[in-house]
Amino acid sequence: MTALPAAGPAEKPVLLLDRLHKKYNPGSQLEVHVLKGVSLAVERGDYVAIMGHSGSGKSTMLNILGCLDVPTEGRYLIDGVDVSSLSEAQLADVRNQYLGFVFQSFNLVRRTSALANVELPLVYAGVSRSERRRRAQTALELVGLGDRTGHMSNELSGGQQQRVAIARAIATGPAIILADEPTGNLDSQSTEEVLQIFGRLNAAGRTIVIITHEDDVASHAKRVVILADGRIAADRRNAPLHSSPPGLVDLTAAEETTEISVTDAATAPGVVVP
Ligand SMILES: Nc1ncnc2c1ncn2[C@@H]1O[C@H](COP(=O)(O)OP(=O)(O)O)[C@@H](O)[C@H]1O
Ligand SMILES: [Mg+2]
Repeated sequence: MTALPAAGPAEKPVLLLDRLHKKYNPGSQLEVHVLKGVSLAVERGDYVAIMGHSGSGKSTMLNILGCLDVPTEGRYLIDGVDVSSLSEAQLADVRNQYLGFVFQSFNLVRRTSALANVELPLVYAGVSRSERRRRAQTALELVGLGDRTGHMSNELSGGQQQRVAIARAIATGPAIILADEPTGNLDSQSTEEVLQIFGRLNAAGRTIVIITHEDDVASHAKRVVILADGRIAADRRNAPLHSSPPGLVDLTAAEETTEISVTDAATAPGVVVP
């Protein structure tokens, strides 16, 4: 593994979408032109909420940011690296080591313990068994589930399942966390718990991009981008880039999150490709 040249103090954006277009079924009768020239630069350490009506292209954009899908036109750069120049193996590595995903529907493996769920990406990353266990345990403690590690995922409440999913997303120490309506299926108390976790992760240096329908959720982000009909219709800053995120109530916990960060990826120099 070799690290690409580190970004200097005058940093390039950690995520850069450049005049991006996405068409589903291009050239066919079923063609849908979803993204129509989206340009967006996300700085390291930012916390960005993406809002917009259903069907406006939010998930499409997040899937491209997560290297789960590719644009039809335009460029996508992570840490200055054009994603289209990476091989499948390199892309898999970027997804596994550099990006953490959280979905609305949790996507945990059923009848499998919280610990085993969180260990899964570490299995793919080739981490040894004992190290996996240690990191998964740490990640579950970070989300307040240190006492639930042996519970089967289907024995946990929705809020707890989402916290397991967040632990799974951060277990490999990704610098960037992408979340698609992570609180969409949660009650207000669980939503607040999840938002406090995201806030602490951001205060500890991780870049967060979160899709949401709810103003309350977006108000926890430092920047709010609104998509409408496949274009960026508004882009406003709620809080400075280098500040703790709005709505974070427990700064002491944020400091602990920094101290027991699962790995140092939040401050890692750049995308690491084989
Ligand atoms: N795999 C797909 N094939 C064809 N059309 C799709 C596909 N995924 C999404 N779409 C369409 O693209 C548009 C944007 O979808 P999406 O990005 O999921 O929007 P949002 O997340 O903002 O609700 C919608 O009209 C949707 O029906
Ligand atoms: Mg969506």
